[in-house]
Amino acid sequence: MAPTKIILTGDRPTGRLHIGHYVGSLRCRVELQNSGEYEKIFIMIADAQALTDNAHNPEKVRDNVVEVALDYLSVGLDPAKSNMLIQSEIPELTELTFYYMNLVTVPRLQRNPTVKSEVKMRSFETGIPVGFFCYPISQAADITAFQATTVPAGEDQKPMLEQTREIVRSFNTTYGEVLTEPDILLPEKGACLRLPGTDGQAKMSKSLGNCVYLSDAEEEVKKKVMSMFTDPDHLKVSDPGKVEGNTVFTYLDAFCNDKFFPEYCPDYRNLDEMKEHYMRGGLGDVKVKKFLCCVMNETLKPIRERRAEFEKDIPYVWEVLKKGTEKAREAAAQTLKNVKKAMKIDYFDEL
Ligand code: TRP
Repeated sequence: MAPTKIILTGDRPTGRLHIGHYVGSLRCRVELQNSGEYEKIFIMIADAQALTDNAHNPEKVRDNVVEVALDYLSVGLDPAKSNMLIQSEIPELTELTFYYMNLVTVPRLQRNPTVKSEVKMRSFETGIPVGFFCYPISQAADITAFQATTVPAGEDQKPMLEQTREIVRSFNTTYGEVLTEPDILLPEKGACLRLPGTDGQAKMSKSLGNCVYLSDAEEEVKKKVMSMFTDPDHLKVSDPGKVEGNTVFTYLDAFCNDKFFPEYCPDYRNLDEMKEHYMRGGLGDVKVKKFLCCVMNETLKPIRERRAEFEKDIPYVWEVLKKGTEKAREAAAQTLKNVKKAMKIDYFDEL
């Protein structure tokens, strides 16, 4: 019998979610949610993980829990189908982390490419906080606590999944088959794997100031798109242009499909035709950018409108999180029970 399909994924509440999160994971989560193929879906607001590199900034983490929940609801995650939960409210996760720590070596964590690049970005080279260093183990606890089979996430999460799978294998061979080995589910389109910032930098990140947020107003999005990085050698409209590494076209790859052309840019039938004209010369950046604004706005408008509705009822948002967390805790508690039994530390269970 095929195992029950269960989804677990999540985000650190360190800021509002942006369109990189959207094309990289959120859009896919909503599709999976509505596919009806998954028995259970858990979407985690990873506040404890956020604290591993924001230990001295607890307000930021707290304030962003509700912002991320609003982003979830506004993209179409439905509390009736997807459990939204707060990580720190599930102490079972911390307990699992502690036991998994015995199965991972220091050099193995040091090799993790995501940890490596994050250490650099946060200037932790002179001293990595132990909690931060161990967060891949805690992420393995997040995933396995819910027996997740599927983790829809961005490419940057691949090393975390690798680490999780190793922990699962090690646990199961040492103590018996208790945990489920999860698979990452990456977005299909290459452009969605890692959407660049509006400045053309490889990563969209708040600290670089190159994000378009899901909650940005229409005018804001327009301003950001119009000032976007394109092909620096495309000076005159008549010059041939490059689409490779041209952020405007990367965003079109991520957001556009043929149905947008008749209404917003009837000169072309599809993106390939538009790209061809750009490469040949004779198509100006402004026209492409205006088209991108229309395409993005069509996607973002309903999200923005739903956010405005949910913002009027913040107690409802907290209620969603509370209920989702309660349900998730039950699942995590069951896994912890199984884990402790397998590890022979279930002393009082039979009393
Ligand atoms: N590390 C993820 C991020 O930085 C957040 C996260 C925490 C997560 N726990 C998870 C993602 C479990 C997938 C599965 O965005």
